[in-house]
Amino acid sequence: MHKVKNKDVFKVSWTYDKAPESTDHIQIKKQYDLYIDGKFTKPIKGKYFDTINPSDNKKITSVAEASDKDVDKAVKAARKAFKSWSALTGKERGKYIFRIARLIQERAREFAVIESLDGGKPIRESRDIDIPLAANHFFYYAGWADKLTYAFPNRNPKPLGVVGQIIPWNFPLLMASWKIAPALATGNTVVLKPAETTPLTALKLAEIIHESGIPKGVVNIITGAGETGAAIVNHPDIDKIAFTGSTGVGKYILNATAGTHKKLTLELGGKGANIIFEDAAIDQAVEGIVNAIFFNQGHVCCAGSRLFVQESVADLVIKKLKDRMKRLIIGDPLDKNTDIGAINSKKQLQTIEKYIKIGINEGSEIYQPKCKLPKHGNWCAPTLFLNVSQSHRIVQEEIFGPVLTVQTFRTIDEVIEKANNTPYGLSAGVWTDKGSKIFHLTQKLDAGIVWANTFNKFDPTSPFGGYKESGFGREGGLHGLKPYVKFE
Ligand code: NAI
Ligand code: MG
Repeated sequence: MHKVKNKDVFKVSWTYDKAPESTDHIQIKKQYDLYIDGKFTKPIKGKYFDTINPSDNKKITSVAEASDKDVDKAVKAARKAFKSWSALTGKERGKYIFRIARLIQERAREFAVIESLDGGKPIRESRDIDIPLAANHFFYYAGWADKLTYAFPNRNPKPLGVVGQIIPWNFPLLMASWKIAPALATGNTVVLKPAETTPLTALKLAEIIHESGIPKGVVNIITGAGETGAAIVNHPDIDKIAFTGSTGVGKYILNATAGTHKKLTLELGGKGANIIFEDAAIDQAVEGIVNAIFFNQGHVCCAGSRLFVQESVADLVIKKLKDRMKRLIIGDPLDKNTDIGAINSKKQLQTIEKYIKIGINEGSEIYQPKCKLPKHGNWCAPTLFLNVSQSHRIVQEEIFGPVLTVQTFRTIDEVIEKANNTPYGLSAGVWTDKGSKIFHLTQKLDAGIVWANTFNKFDPTSPFGGYKESGFGREGGLHGLKPYVKFE
């Protein structure tokens, strides 16, 4: 930290010493195979691909690419395991799930470091949010395993069979736990595919699942890109697909499963409205804006990427927001001071940069604080767009990066109209001193989740999911069990 004289105290620019988390305690193999039928097995076609560290674009390790034949093998293993797994008592199933939860906790530090290495998110987030929440999901659903008849009284819930689960790269371990935990608790068996840019924590999870002693074939974790995902979607012996990812791929899956017996849940994109009323606690609201859009580099389906500020406080909020943005620390994901880490992939950085250009060309006013970005790797400065209107593409389309559009409003009806004017319907935030306003807005906003005086808060007991092009089905809470059972 620089030494400062007292009178300079408000002008000071703080610098921090480096505080990197060490990597000496993690174990990463030179090559990862597919976890099928309780064993790590080589891909039939022998193909592997690299997983990259997005903060320097260097290779971390190589990972197997599953072909449709490997998918078939995994589905067969899951089908075979289904008979005995679904016949176990809920109490017995619960024991394994509790064990997985505890093993994640025991290895939390290693998981956090690997998550940040592979995906680029700040270690503070992987350490304090992703990994603990992932363990909590397993704990929570372990608790339901022997209480399903209370979850669905008088309805005799039965598992569906083999479920295919495809997850994205923004919360790799957390999304794996959102998918696997409720499926196991309800007696299904699983074939899961992590995203191609972030496969490592799912593969570490496979190691833990193996260590838990769960019967072979109950959970199969296979890696690969879109083609592998499509092979899961199109496999005839899968009973349900659970997908989280882009709306484009979601639409493809909806088409591919239409007319089949497969059940489907889709958790897709979003363009969340974050609404600040003049009676809000402004400083807290500014923190909330930062958290809503810059958390995880803005790679968040429920990000508050459209800010609506009541006109009377707009100048103040924007000034405070710019000041706060100047102080955000961008850089090494493994540094404990880092607020904004690396953009997950070159491809995603290109997408974000494309949208920033579109925003400028549409005539909006851009603001980016002066900040030094590291030389190597994928980086994007936190970005504001002012003077935007509803019709601008940067207001309508999901950018999935640290880019916020700012609009103002005068009345409640106006902001409801603007907030709902989007093809998406995943999340929203409301900042106000008045409980009545909160209840009024939660009724009127087309969003699966509405946060009041906070943003991006997650809890395993609380359902999560969207409306409109954000998808359907709920994950989390009691609601999250339902997509994995049928009633006779
Ligand atoms: P994506 O939707 O292509 O990837 C998500 C997962 O789907 C990955 O595991 C991928 O391998 C798999 N996949 C890709 N094509 C598939 C297919 N035909 N059949 C089955 N599975 C398939 O997302 P992508 O291209 O990485 O990101 C593009 C945009 O999607 C982002 O810019 C962002 O706007 C949005 N997105 C939204 C997410 C969310 O949480 N809602 C997560 C990731 C991306
Ligand atoms: Mg990677």
